[in-house]
Amino acid sequence: MKFKIALLAGDGIGPEISREGVKVMNAVCGRFGHDVVYAPALVGAAAIDATGDPFPEATYEICRDADAVLFSAVGDPRFDNRPDLKVRPEQGLLAMRKKLGLFANIRPVTTFASLIHKSPLREDIVSGADFVCIRELTGGMYFGEKFESDERAYDTCAYTRGEITRILKVAFDYARRRRGHLTVVDKANVLASSRLWRKIGQEMAAEHPEVKTDFMYVDNASMRMIQDPRFFDVMVTENTFGDILTDEGSVISGSMGLLPSASIGEGTPVFEPIHGSWPEAAGKNIANPLAQILSVAMLFEYFGLQEEGDCIRKAVDASMEAGVCTPDIAPDPAKAVGTDAVGTWIADFISRKA
Ligand code: IPM
Ligand code: MN
Repeated sequence: MKFKIALLAGDGIGPEISREGVKVMNAVCGRFGHDVVYAPALVGAAAIDATGDPFPEATYEICRDADAVLFSAVGDPRFDNRPDLKVRPEQGLLAMRKKLGLFANIRPVTTFASLIHKSPLREDIVSGADFVCIRELTGGMYFGEKFESDERAYDTCAYTRGEITRILKVAFDYARRRRGHLTVVDKANVLASSRLWRKIGQEMAAEHPEVKTDFMYVDNASMRMIQDPRFFDVMVTENTFGDILTDEGSVISGSMGLLPSASIGEGTPVFEPIHGSWPEAAGKNIANPLAQILSVAMLFEYFGLQEEGDCIRKAVDASMEAGVCTPDIAPDPAKAVGTDAVGTWIADFISRKA
């Protein structure tokens, strides 16, 4: 295949992990005979500094014309704790999701045998946990009507039947292809928008007898995730609940630096780590590149290239077993290696098997 990849490295540790994602992408393309070209583009604080816009039109065009976007991270402390600022790096990510019509964010939560001891949860609880959170990405409070004054402010959580149906469809498809269990997470005991989710979820559950569907309030789900994470196979939820639950999910596996995600929908799909830009670590060569590298695996799998994805996953497992790890997950922190060394080791592992 010929890949045209829009490369949005963004801020903080973004450029460092982006480079490692590219190394691995190149190694896989070399091994399997794919062609790849990259089109770098600005996003986040880097784009604000250069153009005043966190998702400039030129970046949108590059994304629109690519086969996939490899995204890294946005966010910069210069913009934090400054409610007076009207333009923020995070708006770049939201604009990209909205303009590309990426309504479904797929966030797999898996554990790695060699890292179970890093989980804040007991091994007998977390071992074998393997679920996917499907987060609605272009609706809810993130995009609903907003108002802001010094005396009153609101964000509206609005969903239409069409928006709920299309994301639930993605979720039922995933559940069918996995272990056949779907949990619809909502707050239907309080929120009108959640009641519509539940109503449509019940209608669709009746049409999908092959999937065991259950409904869970989000407060209960957040508890169940740490009490019994193996309960879940596929969970689906609205934008804000999904944002919160997937941060919780990410630490189950031991480090936030491990979880990749795919955002899919109408336009070019985006593959990105779920973690942020970790500005304190920028330039120090200590950030874990694995979530970015595993996003490259999701990219290949999206295009039906399962073997390519598997070979990245195997190389990542091998790197952890060999102890080639950044400080956050190194078995012996004194032997931790840098961001670039992890990427190089994985890329070499992939090329050597050619
Ligand atoms: C995420 C991030 C973003 C979100 C921020 C950076 C806008 O936390 O991808 O989960 O809230 O969606
Ligand atoms: Mn988040």
